[in-house]
Amino acid sequence: MHILITGGAGFIGSYLAEALLNKGDHVTIIDNLSTGSLDNLGSIGNNDRFEFIYGNILEIPALEYLVTKSDMVYHLAAAVGVEMVVKNPVLTIQTNVKGTERVLEAANITKTRVLLTSTSEVYGKSTKQTFSEEDDLLIGSPSHSRWSYASSKLLDEFYCTSYYRETGLPVNVVRLFNTVGPRQTGKYGMVLPRFVKSALEEKPLFVYGTGKQSRCFCHVNDTVSALLGFLEVGSFGEIYNIGSQESCTIEDLAKKVIKLTGSISPIEYVPYDKAYAPGFEDMLHRAPKIEKIGKLLNWKPKHTLDRIIRDVAEYYRKQ
Ligand SMILES: NC(=O)c1ccc[n+]([C@@H]2O[C@H](COP(=O)([O-])OP(=O)(O)OC[C@H]3O[C@@H](n4cnc5c(N)ncnc54)[C@H](O)[C@@H]3O)[C@@H](O)[C@H]2O)c1
Repeated sequence: MHILITGGAGFIGSYLAEALLNKGDHVTIIDNLSTGSLDNLGSIGNNDRFEFIYGNILEIPALEYLVTKSDMVYHLAAAVGVEMVVKNPVLTIQTNVKGTERVLEAANITKTRVLLTSTSEVYGKSTKQTFSEEDDLLIGSPSHSRWSYASSKLLDEFYCTSYYRETGLPVNVVRLFNTVGPRQTGKYGMVLPRFVKSALEEKPLFVYGTGKQSRCFCHVNDTVSALLGFLEVGSFGEIYNIGSQESCTIEDLAKKVIKLTGSISPIEYVPYDKAYAPGFEDMLHRAPKIEKIGKLLNWKPKHTLDRIIRDVAEYYRKQ
């Protein structure tokens, strides 16, 4: 199959590209390297079934040609990372909404399959402990920039499901919960790479807020195995959570990282206002229900959090 990955030079996209090439597919990546990097593609650069195209999905004229000649598009290109989103709310909305619009418009010409990577952020401020795909969503006010990411991804979801309903475009939407692993950069606010890097450098681990907020961390290889599963199944127009169910508070995550890396780093607490922006809002718990994707693909994550932390630490040590 010929697969196009938008944002394929990013963290998740680069693993996805490797996995697709390993199983014999042809892969084209389009990426503007805004948060991605050619280093992520080091292992596949010379593969003759692989092509990299530098370009911005918002304006590159070749997007339509690239989409229409593909059997499937994994649409990952997006503005990501809380720090990045809070600082660049306009760019976030433009990238996520206009970019998806262009991909869907092109895909609709040939009815090319599209998989959109949405996010658990769309569940917003709901105080539920675990989130299921049919839940109502509680997104915060537009006076807080951080919600521009969730809102833009939610609009993407509506775009996808609407295209499916109105035109029959074969689309899948997945909501990724925190996906982590080697190669993820901590530059844009991602917590695990930040913690591991600080621990290895014996620098303080900065926990934002009280640290009592909990998250579930899924190994990128588990996420990619779920993404690959969508090549084989139909079930279009549906939304699926993808994530681990092993919940951990951010404070405990910091302690675990320190223990598993043998570090002597201290933990320091930073109020959200200082870490991000005045009035920053966060959700206390965020864990997925994964029965729906489990039933569709017989999928569940295999990697424990300890294993993930060890993998990320090994990656940084090698760097
Ligand atoms: N990593 C996570 O925990 C997580 C959680 C929820 C959702 N997601 C979603 O998964 C996808 C991949 O995320 P990631 O963690 O690999 O992030 P990433 O930043 O590593 O990947 C995004 C890629 O998109 C590219 N990109 C951004 N704007 C572009 C544009 N205008 N034109 C072309 N390329 C552009 C970036 O250069 C980057 O390579 C994103 O859609 C993100 O919203 C990720």
